[in-house]
Amino acid sequence: QSGLETISIGHRVEYFAETDSTNLRAMELAEQGAQEGTVVIADCQNGGRGRMGRRWSSPAGVNLYTSIILRPDMAPIQAAQLTFLSAVATARAFEAVAGIEVQVKWPNDILVNGCKIAGLLNELSAETEGVHHVVLGIGANLNMSREQFPDDLRRPATSVLLETGQTVSRVAFAQELYRQLDRLYPLYQQQGFVPIRLAWEALFYLQGHKVEVDCGADVFTGMVAGLADDGALLLDLEQGGQQVIYAGDVSVAD
Ligand code: BTN
Repeated sequence: QSGLETISIGHRVEYFAETDSTNLRAMELAEQGAQEGTVVIADCQNGGRGRMGRRWSSPAGVNLYTSIILRPDMAPIQAAQLTFLSAVATARAFEAVAGIEVQVKWPNDILVNGCKIAGLLNELSAETEGVHHVVLGIGANLNMSREQFPDDLRRPATSVLLETGQTVSRVAFAQELYRQLDRLYPLYQQQGFVPIRLAWEALFYLQGHKVEVDCGADVFTGMVAGLADDGALLLDLEQGGQQVIYAGDVSVAD
């Protein structure tokens, strides 16, 4: 038994001692017809995936690596909104279980004092008519020690242990995360993106800051104006006008 009091999220839990990536396992299960709310959890990942083809360091026994299957009735364009839903749920789990106040960075990092403490990677199976399933991948650094972080990190990272000096129960964290998702997902389905966007913006540390966004071909500099209804980042450009950004790497410029 999972010990959860949730209605949908976590009614089925697939646990792996070791796997390549919980996102890949969840995509497979979803393709085989697994129900909405099925969760995959692993003690260790040997092929943990990050955004933009990066690796997600996933040592055994210390952190949470989990993926949640959803089957929302929505157009593929809306699916990006679910990243913000999982960010709000993850942020609330850090607050409730570890007593840590976190902030979010567009589109999908969870930070404490500018250091990354969790990452989100959503994967989608869809056709033009609609979404088949979405996998919400969440990696939370809980009890990882300084030595367990890779040396070649692009940006500073942290864990609950490094922030508080205390370890936190991985089970308690996972349960709280699923509970939060179990509350936020029906809210999203009933009331749409607005309540999720407002909760996310309240945690958004870049709101009103000057940033540089590297989109590969273009680099934009401007003031963060907020989120569009489809989850895009709105940037008031220095030279005037507003840029809508769908993908890119954001860094603070002020
Ligand atoms: C990022 O910030 O680049 C996203 C990291 C996402 C990591 C999680 S861990 C659980 C799930 N399985 C994966 O392979 N990746 C996500």
